[in-house]
Amino acid sequence: MSASLFSLATFAFPANLANVDISASQLAEINDLVAKVTRDLKEREGQPKVEKRAIFNADAQRISNTGAHRYIAPGPNDLRGPCPGLNVMANHGYLPRNGVASVAQLTTASNEVFGMGLDLAAFLAVYSAVVAGDLTSCSIGGKPKSGLLGGLTSSLGLLGEPQGLNLSHNRFEVDASPTRRDQYIGDPVSLDIELFEQMVNSPLGPNGYDLTVMYPRRVARFKDSIATNGHAFFGPVVQYALQPATYLFTYQFFANRSAEYPEGYLDLETLKSFQGVTGEKGNFKWTWGGEKIPDNWYRRDILQPYLIESFTAEAVGMLLVDPELIVVGGNTGTPNSFAGVNVVDLTGGVYNAQNLLEGNNAMCFALQNIQQGAPDLLRGLVGNVVVALQKLTGVLDPLLATLNCPQIAKYDPLLLSKYPGAEGSI
Ligand code: HEM
Repeated sequence: MSASLFSLATFAFPANLANVDISASQLAEINDLVAKVTRDLKEREGQPKVEKRAIFNADAQRISNTGAHRYIAPGPNDLRGPCPGLNVMANHGYLPRNGVASVAQLTTASNEVFGMGLDLAAFLAVYSAVVAGDLTSCSIGGKPKSGLLGGLTSSLGLLGEPQGLNLSHNRFEVDASPTRRDQYIGDPVSLDIELFEQMVNSPLGPNGYDLTVMYPRRVARFKDSIATNGHAFFGPVVQYALQPATYLFTYQFFANRSAEYPEGYLDLETLKSFQGVTGEKGNFKWTWGGEKIPDNWYRRDILQPYLIESFTAEAVGMLLVDPELIVVGGNTGTPNSFAGVNVVDLTGGVYNAQNLLEGNNAMCFALQNIQQGAPDLLRGLVGNVVVALQKLTGVLDPLLATLNCPQIAKYDPLLLSKYPGAEGSI
């Protein structure tokens, strides 16, 4: 497989796609976005990678929760789902309040409100629009009523109907989440009070509910899934990218910045507000659509967005906490029946348990899996596989190029598809 089909500078979506499925304005929107992300990646290319101390600038980092951005509870036709970050942005009008957003809206809002790097935000946005939406937009919750999505819905067959993030199990919605139950044994979309209570009862770190809390929480939830969910499944994309993201994002994006804590501090009240929880310990209550941006909340340093690079380093840090997490695989139908797949066999020897922890390898493996596994997956999901693939590889290629991934000559996804809980996975 070629690590990069397009060079950083020349990438653009083929113009003739405009005549097939994507309208000229949607194509222009996507091309603008890819150009913006590519420019941002290029600008950073030559910069020295020294960890800078975060600087606090109140005016630049204050996020409004009033006026046009006041909280409005979603109505019965508005969609909300498993991601508290997207829910809260829709509740405050940073994303469309109906819960259906375009790739550009998802990327820009995640970047501006939370300081997510454009590269990471664009990747998540396109990935969600491809695996759970209609290639140009996505419901952040359940299946949208017909006509809500702006893109290709009309040209898709029944199998290709966009489902929204609620129904994206193994593609985006994953097992062992911080506060959501596993799909086969509970509700993967709503916050579970018991899990929230367990998280907030953890001893606080120097920055509140920081990574010293999140790392062991993830290990605990992983073990919990293996012990209780016969269909627990952790493929490479889940294990190395999506699942660590849910824990890292909780601290990295929800933490409040201040002159005292320019790098962030996440306290209980802030976490409750973002997760839509009210009440006190022992008596918490979660409300659907209740996620709110707290008063006097300041996002991360404008000059230090959370890039794929930072995310990768912390995701690997998480794997180092417990070597059990390096293994991909799942239960074989009953609790505690975990069987791992040998990464060496899966990748024709390119990756192994040791080198997966080096450099960007874990993230490379996850992204390469998406590239390799996407064609089969998309065949059942979207009408126009070619358009979907071009869109996905268009975003993945510049990312893979900056990560300098080793090339995988052989990839054997059949090793993973045998798991009973693997349905829908890449
Ligand atoms: C395009 C952007 C994004 C997409 C498509 C997306 C999608 C998702 C999905 C599908 C989940 C559920 C995964 C699971 O099963 O746990 C999730 C979880 C989560 N997301 Fe997002 N997300 C995005 C951006 C953000 C942002 C900007 C934040 C900022 C705070 C965020 C914070 C979280 C957190 C904390 C969880 C874990 C929920 C929990 O179990 O407590 N996400 N996201």
